[in-house]
Amino acid sequence: MTVLVTGARGNVGRAVLDALVTAGQDVRAASRDVTTLDVGVAKVSADLEDPSTLDAALEGVSSVFLYTRPQGIEGFVKAAEAAGVRHVVLLSSGATLEPRSAQSRVARLHRAVEEALIAAPFAETLLNPGSFATNTLGWRADIAEGVVRTPYPDSRVGAIHERDIGDVAAKILADGSHAGEALQLSGPEPISFREQAAILADVLGRPLRVEELTPEQAAGRMAALGWPPEVPPEILRAMERTTREASVVTDVVRDVTGHAPRTFRQWAEDHRADFS
Ligand SMILES: NC(=O)c1ccc[n+]([C@@H]2O[C@H](COP(=O)([O-])OP(=O)(O)OC[C@H]3O[C@@H](n4cnc5c(N)ncnc54)[C@H](OP(=O)(O)O)[C@@H]3O)[C@@H](O)[C@H]2O)c1
Repeated sequence: MTVLVTGARGNVGRAVLDALVTAGQDVRAASRDVTTLDVGVAKVSADLEDPSTLDAALEGVSSVFLYTRPQGIEGFVKAAEAAGVRHVVLLSSGATLEPRSAQSRVARLHRAVEEALIAAPFAETLLNPGSFATNTLGWRADIAEGVVRTPYPDSRVGAIHERDIGDVAAKILADGSHAGEALQLSGPEPISFREQAAILADVLGRPLRVEELTPEQAAGRMAALGWPPEVPPEILRAMERTTREASVVTDVVRDVTGHAPRTFRQWAEDHRADFS
């Protein structure tokens, strides 16, 4: 019963790996660069966009935690089937559950991978989280200046801790439950960016001023980070919408793991060092 965790250097991948190790599972950690992967379990090189790397990574594996990479998904499905994989848990996105998902590039990319797994001969579980608490790591440079710059500061999202996604994925990978299901994951409550900034200020012990960016300024920043041009307008539309209606909050983390989802304050405390 070996579990392969792809993207083990990622925030969620690492949380899945840690939860599986804590549960005593036999785990193999995969990354495109294992030289920078500091884990106490077996490591293997794997690039989901290069299927030739997958046979060795999947040998003897019964279940997989998978990041969404549409390029190469067909090769992954073939290699997983050949290796006798029984269950794949996909980190997808809540974007695929939105009513206008057909118009969303982010949703379409995730949906393509979901559909490839649904059509595959092994079982799949789709994890569809909303906004990650780790998105606020993008504020680090501004926080160093004592400010949080964001469009729509009163947008309310169900910010989820990566360890809650990790706990859900690990439970399902370990016991094979929730096959054929799509699970909409969230943190415990809708919380605005302004409230997140106030909690970070409190936890970090220094004042943080909130400066509202216009949508144009925010789109410019995303473009400078190299985001594809269609994506900033989608994200800004979603942020505007959640100023009027809070993002969906669900009980799935508690239902699957038996524990309450962690609050944004817990996340900030866990990540204090990332802002110093
Ligand atoms: N941010 C949000 O609010 C949000 C909301 C819903 C869903 N999501 C989903 O969550 C994902 C981000 O998760 P995260 O925060 O854990 O990201 P992260 O910390 O940026 O890590 C991304 C991971 O993707 C892996 N990866 C990238 N290209 C790969 C490839 N070709 N082959 C294998 N692995 C590859 C990387 O693996 P290595 O570097 O180790 O090879 C890395 O570990 C998004 O891509 C999206 O699908 C995000």
